[in-house]
Amino acid sequence: MSTTSSPGEARNTVASARVVDSTTRKRAGEVLDAEEIAGVVADFVHDRIPDYQMAAWLATIACTGLSTGELVALTRAYAMDGGHLDLSRVDGAVVDKHSTGGVGDTTTLIVVPVVAACGAPVAKMTGRALGFTGGTLDKLESIKGLRTSLPVEEIVPVLKSVGMVITGQSTDLTPGDGATYALRDVTGTVESIPLIAASIISKKFAVQADGLVLDVKTGSGALIRERHRAVELIQTMLDLARVFGLSARAVLSDMSQPLGPSVGNALEIRQALAVLRGERTPGLWDLCVTVCRQMLQSVDPLLTDEQAMAKIDRVLDDGSAYEMFVRWAVAQGAAAAALEAERFPTASNRYVVKAAESGWVTGIDPRVVGKAGLLVGAGRLTYDAPLDYGAGILLRHRVGDHVDKGDVLAELFYDRGDADTARSLVESAFRLGDRAVTAPSAVQQVFDPRGA
Ligand code: URA
Repeated sequence: MSTTSSPGEARNTVASARVVDSTTRKRAGEVLDAEEIAGVVADFVHDRIPDYQMAAWLATIACTGLSTGELVALTRAYAMDGGHLDLSRVDGAVVDKHSTGGVGDTTTLIVVPVVAACGAPVAKMTGRALGFTGGTLDKLESIKGLRTSLPVEEIVPVLKSVGMVITGQSTDLTPGDGATYALRDVTGTVESIPLIAASIISKKFAVQADGLVLDVKTGSGALIRERHRAVELIQTMLDLARVFGLSARAVLSDMSQPLGPSVGNALEIRQALAVLRGERTPGLWDLCVTVCRQMLQSVDPLLTDEQAMAKIDRVLDDGSAYEMFVRWAVAQGAAAAALEAERFPTASNRYVVKAAESGWVTGIDPRVVGKAGLLVGAGRLTYDAPLDYGAGILLRHRVGDHVDKGDVLAELFYDRGDADTARSLVESAFRLGDRAVTAPSAVQQVFDPRGA
């Protein structure tokens, strides 16, 4: 993958001719064979084709879709045929989870330590922000010293010694996903069912956990907005997981408003730590409970809901979930003191959005809130744009709340970027009405193929 290519710069004419030919034939309706798909992905990873040709290939797939055979081939190509963790040395069944990404969705940073503290080891490969949605790796980089991309030989030792590990794609594990993920982020090719499915399942294949829970979002703040298409994504991923020998279940969750009150890298880490210290944040916590329960049951099918819930409550109440996060952060290079609130990056400017009238909050558009965050540096608009870890939005109300004229609805934190537009976006994200509404439940549906 190149970050410096410019039109006219020929890296490898054979590889370039191949990807252009593949793009043209795919657009004309041809089915690509596995070897060709593997070749294009490998050419990109090894920098034999420039970004713009790979972006055209991915955009064509985003428009035309993939057959089942092509999807399996792309997933395998992302994982580069087989690099995976050897979890045989880990005591106990290992569990993994993945979310399709949303706004204010800091679920991973809560559920991984909770489930690990309950005694189930958790291994998770994760990614950066995609489009207007946040990414766990970016959030974690707001913790000083934390190493977010471990060499493959360090992953299992961290998992064994702590009980959990979180790491990004690397040159050893899913290099194809790592390279295309960064390109998709800045070329409008994130919102595609086959591209999302291949990206996620390739990472899950590289981990090869015993249990896997997929959290698929639906609503304006999700990559796939419409519920029926989110269900299609679930079914596509469950089928793909089965092809790769993974035992998966899924949760369909609501993204019609930001999941939690904090949107932005350091803000979301602080939010996760507050939950780990016992705050039951509405929306965010409701989803976390379900995901934790599903994760525990995925490796212990006889565990009842009540037993799972008792374990989850215990590790929050006795502080062991929080301690698990601290031990893990230290194992991956952070100093424990880096988790104190005042050590996190903060933005120096604050803009307060107030209610222009009294009424009920009837909507908070998460996509608009996410775009406001992007404009002030909480996400990327170009490949190598530096992030502003302290930038973001704190939402002071949720859908269904009553507010009085002048009440604070949200705060925007920023240091740079297009703060004027971001301010108006946050203002426009809120809808007030004169009738109370009930917000959709954070958890819409659970898909357990074993019970189907
Ligand atoms: N998460 C991923 O890992 N990949 C995607 O494409 C979307 C969400």
